[in-house]
Amino acid sequence: MVRVLFVCLGNICRSPTADGIFRKLVADAGLSHAIESDSAGITDYHEGEEPDPRAMDAARRRGIELAGMRARLFEPRDLEEFDIVLSMDRMVHRSVSALQRRHKKSKADVGLFLDHAPHVNVREVPDPYLGGRKGFERVLDLVEEGAKGLLDHIKETRLK
Ligand code: 4NP
Repeated sequence: MVRVLFVCLGNICRSPTADGIFRKLVADAGLSHAIESDSAGITDYHEGEEPDPRAMDAARRRGIELAGMRARLFEPRDLEEFDIVLSMDRMVHRSVSALQRRHKKSKADVGLFLDHAPHVNVREVPDPYLGGRKGFERVLDLVEEGAKGLLDHIKETRLK
């Protein structure tokens, strides 16, 4: 089983969206038996909460249901349990990388999510929390591109 973790700041907007989109892609490819994913946040501000209603609405418009997901805090142990840990922006990535340097048992490949979408002209999924509906659409557009590239990457490097 290949295990992927998506990480953002609050775990209520970007990373649950990435998890939902990626899971659908994996299911449509008939690979749910081989790839699983989850999401977490580097803050506990929203621990235990469902995704932001605006993120859920935006995902629903594209046929993805995020209801039932619960925000949780990223923990060093995740670096032992997941094969691939992808952050939604550089600030989050720096924080995950700092934990990884101190966590000797880490086996994860840690990186920036949008590095799997090299054709896209940005490397970060912008935090939509304080903005309007457009920001959430932008998150979905970027996440769809990153998720496709990630699935191709996993097929090429880990499922052959
Ligand atoms: P996320 O968005 O990191 O994509 O889940 C945010 C959610 C909440 C906060 C910041 C970003 N916050 O500061 O509460």
